[in-house]
Amino acid sequence: MLAKIEQLLQEVEGLTARNAEELEALRIKYLSKKGAINELMADFRNVPAEHKKEVGIKLNELKSRTQERIAALKEAFESQDTGMSELDLTRTAYPVSLGTRHPLSIVRNEIIDIFGRMGFTIADGPEVEDDLHVFTSLNFAADHPARDMQDTFFVEANQDDVTKNIILRTHTSSVQVRAMENSQPPIRIICPGRVYRNEAISYRAHCFFHQIEGLYIDKNVSFTDLKQVLLQFAREMFGPETKIRLRPSYFPFTEPSAEMDISCDICGGKGCAFCKYTGWVEILGCGMVDPNVLEACGIDSKIYTGYAFGMGVERITNLKYKVKDLRMFSENDTRFLKEFESAN
Ligand code: PHE
Repeated sequence: MLAKIEQLLQEVEGLTARNAEELEALRIKYLSKKGAINELMADFRNVPAEHKKEVGIKLNELKSRTQERIAALKEAFESQDTGMSELDLTRTAYPVSLGTRHPLSIVRNEIIDIFGRMGFTIADGPEVEDDLHVFTSLNFAADHPARDMQDTFFVEANQDDVTKNIILRTHTSSVQVRAMENSQPPIRIICPGRVYRNEAISYRAHCFFHQIEGLYIDKNVSFTDLKQVLLQFAREMFGPETKIRLRPSYFPFTEPSAEMDISCDICGGKGCAFCKYTGWVEILGCGMVDPNVLEACGIDSKIYTGYAFGMGVERITNLKYKVKDLRMFSENDTRFLKEFESAN
């Protein structure tokens, strides 16, 4: 009997339980009416009188050690229970706030989508360019004011030969030049990208901004095609009721050239402060590619004609989201950026 008690004592010291069910099973096994200890208690009767004292003490020790052990286990996982369930070690220390797409990216992607559906593919090119691709091939005269330091950022200025200047591109028309140099018509591309101009920074001008320019060259491309594509674009971008108006203009690389206005979607064309009471707001420049440009890029202007257009992404974004200060786009103020969360 003593040996049995000793064995149980050792067993009890090593007891473990992972949950309430396991603990209850232990309690039943050792401490219930039919448990191991009660069985020993029942056998106690048969212990010879001279051993009764010694065995009795041991038996009581076993009972109280078992009770203590089970109580200790209970406490251990009860405190674990309340503590652990609130303590999720896999959770991040702070809520992770998700970023949002930049408004200019949202609008750029939308413009790319619209022209993509009309068959235009994206063309890309360098931001640091040579004079040839930004000005010379695009029919800018050698003394054109855009070539002046006041308008253009120079990386390398060449005093003797302006056509050797290395500059930051002032428009993405340079990408169109590269596309014409490297392939033959039909060419149907849009060129999204960042451009740089030497402007004083204010709410309406910045030293860099973003453009999307389009180019289509094939046989028999006419001004009518240009107008139709731009009308479709305006309707998809600003709503089906949008009207367009083309005003004669001048660019060295297109002839004829035009600027396109859309009906002011704030006043619906009636006239308001936003459209300066004209009912129209200007959104892009366009025209038929000047034959000089086609020839300079290795395309036969007797066989092919083409149109080009270019717009500022900031301008379109301002119109669409009524952003009044251009500087907001580059200040990374998350309060501003968060406003575009739902437009993503
Ligand atoms: N490249 C012109 C600009 O930067 C925009 C434009 C592109 C105008 C194509 C006409 C045709 O302002």
